[in-house]
Amino acid sequence: MAKNLLYAQSGGVTAVINASAAGVITTAREVGERIGRVFAARNGILGVLREILVDTAGISDNDLARLRATPGGAFGSCRFDLDPAERNPAQYDRLFAVLAAHEVAYFLYNGGNGSMETCRQIQAEADARGYPLTVVGVPKTIDNDIVHTDCCPGFGSAAKYLATSVREVGLDLAAMTTSGGRAFVLEVMGRNAGWLAGACALAAEGPGQAPHLILLPEVPFDEPAFMRRVQAVVERVGACAIVVAEGLRGPDGRILAMQRENKGYIQLGGAGEVIADRIASSLGYKVHYAVADYLQRAARHIASKTDTAQAFAVGKAAVRRALAGSCGVIGIKRISGHPYRWRTIQLPFEKVANLERKLPPDFIAKDGFGVSDDFRAWCRPLIAGEDPPRFVDGLPDYLHLDLPLEPPHLPGWQP
Ligand code: F6P
Repeated sequence: MAKNLLYAQSGGVTAVINASAAGVITTAREVGERIGRVFAARNGILGVLREILVDTAGISDNDLARLRATPGGAFGSCRFDLDPAERNPAQYDRLFAVLAAHEVAYFLYNGGNGSMETCRQIQAEADARGYPLTVVGVPKTIDNDIVHTDCCPGFGSAAKYLATSVREVGLDLAAMTTSGGRAFVLEVMGRNAGWLAGACALAAEGPGQAPHLILLPEVPFDEPAFMRRVQAVVERVGACAIVVAEGLRGPDGRILAMQRENKGYIQLGGAGEVIADRIASSLGYKVHYAVADYLQRAARHIASKTDTAQAFAVGKAAVRRALAGSCGVIGIKRISGHPYRWRTIQLPFEKVANLERKLPPDFIAKDGFGVSDDFRAWCRPLIAGEDPPRFVDGLPDYLHLDLPLEPPHLPGWQP
């Protein structure tokens, strides 16, 4: 069997997931004949099941460099979980029929903790069926909630964008003179983990600077204590900048705000507006709020160089591990903090799949309204360095991939 490789992207995309794709494709090209063709599926595992594949040989070296610096998921992503093999064997029959039809021996899946479960399921079923396949999970998520890795590609760039925005908005907020108080609320992503909210703390260069308060999902929202703190900040510096995590929960454990639920997936969002409204009605301040939403995970123009390097490196490591026949999830190990040194590692699927890493207690400030110095020291190197895309006519020159689809070998299929 020719040893073809199949790569796919999954879950919420990031500013640097395409750097991982570039790491995969570049490395596969470097190893020459040890790998046959390098396919990518359109829209993750759904593209595999639907047999919608492209051949990355159609990407020129010049476009590969642009791919590395383009946000979004160039091959398309999905939120789709495979059924357990025993419940839906037909789904796996189809999956392995597609892999066999395209002579795929290596499957690299670029996603978060749910996608690592998909990797585990596929590897287990390949082994059970005696199909020669090596599955490697390539990590990505701005939420930074994958366990046993120092950080996740995508996080550092989103964190840098958010911390930059908070520093800038802090200056705006401080400029206006008003008789009443003012507040600004920024809602950030991260689901149940406060890594991104915490990273906003890096914006402050000294006491009294934005962000003044951070509402983490790990700390139940104590509204009376929060209002007292907002008031105290406003009395001291005139205005208060607050960062709120989208997954903030009340003392009863319920999420403060969400948009909707669809097939068990909860789309978060709205916490910023709730907090802003409550400040306005309790304290009578003038309040603005913003939702960083997709802006924070698409902001490639201000990517962290550490992050782009790590994203590329996990793609590269995944190809090397796959060639060695070693399945598992690529992680990042911190060797030292000052200077920041790291290397890639490999973790068993079972240690990673479906688990969620939240902020540990020693990364949370004692009063619960921010992060600790240890967190700041951990986070600082992850936003370090600039790696901007090329700009043309004042705007980033991003790649729009338009590769022809591989002719299907099998009849059509719908999940
Ligand atoms: O990928 C993770 C994430 O960025 C979360 O922080 C956020 O809640 C979610 O994606 C939003 O994605 P969707 O577009 O599926 O609602």
